[in-house]
This record gives sequence, C-alpha cells and structure tokens, in this order.
Amino acid sequence: MNTQNVPHSSTAATAEEAIARQEALPPPDNEAATDVAMQNTLLTPRFYTTDFEEMDAIDVSPVREEWDKMIAGMKADPNKGHFKKNEDWDEVDWDGMEPKLKREFIDFLISSCTAEFSGCVLYKEMKRRGSNEDITTLFQLMARDEARHAGFINDALREAGIAVNLGFLTRQKKYTYFRPKFIYYATYLSEKIGYARYITIYRHLEAHPEYRFHPIFKWFREWCNDEFSHGEAFALLLRTDPKLTQSFANKLWIKFFLTAVYGTMWVRDHQRPVFHDALGVDVTWYGQEVFRKTSEISKQAFPFTLDIDHPRWRPNLDRLQAASVQVAKGKAKGGVTGTASRVAGMAKAAFAFAALYTIPSIPNALPETSRLEPAY
Ligand SMILES: [Fe+2]
Ligand SMILES: [Fe+2]
Repeated sequence: MNTQNVPHSSTAATAEEAIARQEALPPPDNEAATDVAMQNTLLTPRFYTTDFEEMDAIDVSPVREEWDKMIAGMKADPNKGHFKKNEDWDEVDWDGMEPKLKREFIDFLISSCTAEFSGCVLYKEMKRRGSNEDITTLFQLMARDEARHAGFINDALREAGIAVNLGFLTRQKKYTYFRPKFIYYATYLSEKIGYARYITIYRHLEAHPEYRFHPIFKWFREWCNDEFSHGEAFALLLRTDPKLTQSFANKLWIKFFLTAVYGTMWVRDHQRPVFHDALGVDVTWYGQEVFRKTSEISKQAFPFTLDIDHPRWRPNLDRLQAASVQVAKGKAKGGVTGTASRVAGMAKAAFAFAALYTIPSIPNALPETSRLEPAY
C-alpha cells in the first residue's frame, strides 16, 4: 500500500487524530508486540488513571505569566511533522541484526512506545473529562505530542514486522489508580528523566555516530525537547500549591518516587546489556549520568535531591538489580523452589530499596520561578 499521501500521525493536531491515523495503517502481522505491551509488572510501563475532577480544579493563577508563555510555546507546535521518516531515515537491516541485539532493541522500542502511549492515554482522558480550560488545553497538547511519539516508534517497529496495537491497548490494558499528587510527582519525574535519557543518548551518538545502529536516534533531540516542555508543565502545576513540595509527608512521597523511578530505570536498563553495548554506552555510566541531569533539573521543583554519590547508593542499586533477576528466574522456574527463590528475591529487593530510601537527601532551596530551558 502506498502510504506516501495518507496523512501521518506526525502532523495530527490532536491525540485522537494521531491514533486514528496509526490505526488506519496496514495491521502488523503478529501480535507479539501488543502482548509485551499488555504486561503489567513492576518494571513494565503502566497505564494510569486518577481523580480527574480534583485535577480539573487546579487554579493556575499563581503561575499565570509562565503558564501562558508555556502554552503559547506548545501551541506554536515547533515539532509538527517531525516524527515521521524522511530522507534521513536509513535502511534498517533487521534480518542481519544480531539476534540478541534485535531482541533487546525491539523490547526497548515496545517499552518506549508503551510508556509514550501511557502518557497519551492519561493526558487525553484528562482533556476529555475536564472543563477547566487551562488544564484541558495543556493536556490536549501533551496528549498530541505523546501520540505522535508513540506513532513514530510504531513506524519503526512496523519495519521489523511488528507494531503495538494502540487502540487495543487503550481498551484492554489494566489501569492503575494514582491520586493526583502522585501523578504530578511520577509524571514530572518521568518526563524529565525521559528528557535526560534521550538527550544523553543523542549527545553520545553525535560524538560517536559509528554506534548509531538505527536511524530513530537521529530524532531524539526534538523528541526530548517535547518531554522537557511536558516536564515544565508539571513543574508549574507543582508550583500552584506549595504544600505539594513542602509538607513533611509529601517530602517523604517525593523521595519515594525519586528512589522508585531511579531504581526502576537502573534495573530495566541493566536488563539490556547487548543493546547498550551496541550503542557503545556503559550502562552504569549512563544510569548515573541520567540521574545527575535529572537531579540537577529537578531542583526547579523538589526541595531536595537524592545523594547519588553516597557510598550506599551504587551497591544497593546493584543489589536491587540482582534481586530482580532472582525474582524473574524464580517466576520462570515455578514450583516450590522457584517460588521460594522468588520470595527471597522480593525480600532482598525490599531491603535494597529501604537502604536506598534511607540515604540522607541533599536539601535544595527552590528558585523563585521554575522555568528552565533544555540545556544539555
Ligand atoms: Fe513522549
Ligand atoms: Fe512527555
């Protein structure tokens, strides 16, 4: 089928339009990708739902000036049409790709697509349910971006003969409920860490193009700028109510989310050694580098950062990683010994997490305004 003249998800004005355009493409010939995307474990990207009414009631007047500037920037839509293959898209030799690399890379693409789409679904739903124009405008713009991102990854997957069925996922994947404030912490962090991840890979490949084994990495700079601006939006939302970042209980929650998001990233990335080798990236260096950038950025919104140079930090991340391997192996083995090993692994993971969580954090005085520009 000639898809040259069919409108593409990259130019869609809304998430709904982008999804419909993706759905109109010829179906993939296997369901494996959607099966992977459907998985719900602690480590796979989840779909979230929340108290949309409470979120709709946010009053952005305390940050009005910055808010209007930010929305104007997003409405100007500098990346319209960007997330589409063009002449920079080199031919990918999927059949010639080393099988282990192919498996890990496809896993990376599916998990990234699911994460992008998870944001899209949450933002789109907020837009649909809300009546506060500030909030619905923001969420519709962010949903638009995430749908384009997910669509673009799907274009890449389609070349390998697979694709994530976005419509099916929306209807069938389990949704996890999070209170609005948890959505702010988790989503703020995942947008900013997403920026830090994409820009770190982009800069590395800019310096070492010989490691760029797939063209999608060329698109990462504009990509991470979208994520950066989504993070800016959540930073402003956090600013509308000082209690969100200043109360004692909320500080504990912020620390919990920081530790969980960093820990999850560490474990997940260490599961893809061949992929990182192919990129010429030392996965341990990469993890710490991404944490460093994210921590620096998060000083705009959070009253402290995690001490990622503390002597207990790295050893316990490695323990968390080893424990998660043990849990996965125990689960695969099954039976009495498998279950025992899995339970022991879970206990080890809990201890490692507690050891990370109790590392004293580094206090940070919040700046006057949160606004930042992507600087890496
Ligand atoms: Fe995205
Ligand atoms: Fe995003």
